[in-house]
Amino acid sequence: MKTIVETAQPASYAQAIAFLEQQEVVAFPTETVYGLGAIATDEEAVRKIFAAKARPADNPLIVHIGTIEEVAHYITHVPEKARQCMEAFWPGALTLIMEAKPNVLAPSVMAGLSTVGLRMPDHDVALTLLRQLGKPVAAPSANRSGKPSPTEAQHVFEDLAGRIPMVLDGGATGIGVESTVLDMTTDIPTILRPGGVTKEMLEAVIGEVFQPTKLQAEAKETPKAPGMKYTHYAPNAPVYLIKPSAVKIQEAVQQLQAQGHRVAVLAPDDMVIDAPYIFRFGTTAEQMAVRLYDALRACDHTDATIILATTIDEAGVGAAIMNRLEKAAGHQYYR
Ligand code: TXA
Ligand code: MG
Repeated sequence: MKTIVETAQPASYAQAIAFLEQQEVVAFPTETVYGLGAIATDEEAVRKIFAAKARPADNPLIVHIGTIEEVAHYITHVPEKARQCMEAFWPGALTLIMEAKPNVLAPSVMAGLSTVGLRMPDHDVALTLLRQLGKPVAAPSANRSGKPSPTEAQHVFEDLAGRIPMVLDGGATGIGVESTVLDMTTDIPTILRPGGVTKEMLEAVIGEVFQPTKLQAEAKETPKAPGMKYTHYAPNAPVYLIKPSAVKIQEAVQQLQAQGHRVAVLAPDDMVIDAPYIFRFGTTAEQMAVRLYDALRACDHTDATIILATTIDEAGVGAAIMNRLEKAAGHQYYR
């Protein structure tokens, strides 16, 4: 299959919609990461998402909608706090998990669960596509399963060329980490995946929100967001987390080089380090979120044999960054 990459403009929306209506998948930008979309009520189309990404069938998909009115088509009962979240954060990086109406969405979207995650993305290209199509679009991140999520059309192409017909190119994404997944079916809403909308932002609108600690999240045998149990966001070389201290990192680089390693370091802009490969994260948590996946992917274009990535404070969007880094590193710290 030939994969076309088209800059978003009227003719390319028409092309993308034609592919979707033909039960094909199309990659498109959102404000978080690129998604790989198919019409969410079409089982045959949705299955092509799982095939293209090599995604495990037990991992459900987020359904993207272009208007709040559509929620009622897919959800049995919209809790009051969910309504408040939609008003405060949609369009935006927040996925709300609610009970789905039976027999409306394609079964593979929910992967056997009774619930579905809905989100209205805050991106002109995504919203234009959704509103012109007039149908819900199921879309996971548009990476090969296990790889860092794509924040540029080129990342999608690297992973999925030959496996999907089209990438709609809307430039680099603005937030850089995925949406927050918030379970609205529990008494106290529960963060199943930290993301672009932080716990602090949610609590300002709906009061108490439960964010499981890493230990709590791992102790659960079946994670409530099935996707969180798989290895994720990983470049080819092993990643080790390290405290953001230039002295410690320099020591680590020397030790690893003495063992014959070629070291890549992911570090903040202002940190003075001497290493064969250095990828810069910026200085704030927001900048780090934007650059995280591109930096992890950049390591795959080097001959580095080991990657050291600096940790960050877990306040605000730092929680999402550390969640992704811990997964990329398989929870390994360099000591
Ligand atoms: O920002 C995003 O959320 C991006 C863009 C494209 O919208 N999408 C995305 O999708 O990250 P994906 O499939 O890579 O991650 C969806 C996460 C997975 O961890 C999945 O298990 C969880 O959401 N999820 C989806 N539906 C769920 C449900 N009904 N109950 C619990 N978790 C669910
Ligand atoms: Mg993903």
